[in-house]
Amino acid sequence: MNKKALSREIEELKKKKKILIVAHNYQRPEVQDIADILGDSLELARIAAGVPEERILLCGVKFMAESVKIISPRKTVLTPEPEAGCPMADMITGEDVRRLRKEYPDYLFMAYVNTSAEVKAEVDLCCTSSNALALVKKLKGEKIFFLPDKNLGSWIKDQTQTEMELWPGFCYVHNRIQMEDLEKGRQEHPEAVAMIHPESPLQVLKAADAVLSTGQMITYARTSPAREFLVGTEEGMVYRLQSLFPEKLFYPMGRPFICDNMKKITLEKVHKALTDEETIIQIDESVIQKAAQSLNRMLEMS
Ligand code: 13P
Ligand code: SF4
Repeated sequence: MNKKALSREIEELKKKKKILIVAHNYQRPEVQDIADILGDSLELARIAAGVPEERILLCGVKFMAESVKIISPRKTVLTPEPEAGCPMADMITGEDVRRLRKEYPDYLFMAYVNTSAEVKAEVDLCCTSSNALALVKKLKGEKIFFLPDKNLGSWIKDQTQTEMELWPGFCYVHNRIQMEDLEKGRQEHPEAVAMIHPESPLQVLKAADAVLSTGQMITYARTSPAREFLVGTEEGMVYRLQSLFPEKLFYPMGRPFICDNMKKITLEKVHKALTDEETIIQIDESVIQKAAQSLNRMLEMS
């Protein structure tokens, strides 16, 4: 079946079955186009609590689908590809956190949502790239152990001067963005404003014009008087911004950056997941209960 025919069938299936398709901003263009709702990690987690649909098909990596399940445990959360994980989330385990908590007993443990449900169950508070800085500012005075992203952690530490320990995890996609990429982008597009995701190295974050989550990039592009933008994040975001604001111009920062894990989700797999309804996210009840505390605390504080 070609893409057009597949998309048409998906549209019919999701309506007939009343399954809501929720997708992350890094999804393939054709997957973005069949989604009911698109968003960043925080927006996707919030949607779970707010929508009336009992069944959600989450097009994104595993931790995103797990977060929806943890926040709305009675809902059925489907994934088009159970093997689409986030390598950064796999850089720390629940066992690591239990050990660290003994070594740092007076620290508040804060986990980026790019973690497994088991890790979320072991920490005090979660955060996403759109609220991490604001949450740490609210926690002033606390010593924080931040995990797993050393780049996001370094950015927060630099911006707040908080006493922080950092786990050495990183995103293999954003960690590749270098000063040369920013410089090349600026040379090729001298009028463009440089937006960058905080999973990128600190030196590049400090040199860019705005450090933003993917959701915040949309608000920034909407409200900025600029007409051209360098997009320092995964290439799916360039398509997302260009579709929303056709009158403006968006360019990858120097070269395209691709998350192969996000791209594992295809129209064929979306169609199959809707048809079979077999690829359901399952998490142990006791893990859900514990992980919900750190995720809900984040939602309450944001
Ligand atoms: P956002 O929450 O900014 O969409 O980021 C999620 C992510 O995985 C970035 O790599
Ligand atoms: Fe994980 Fe990086 Fe892919 Fe985001 S872009 S899902 S952090 S590997």
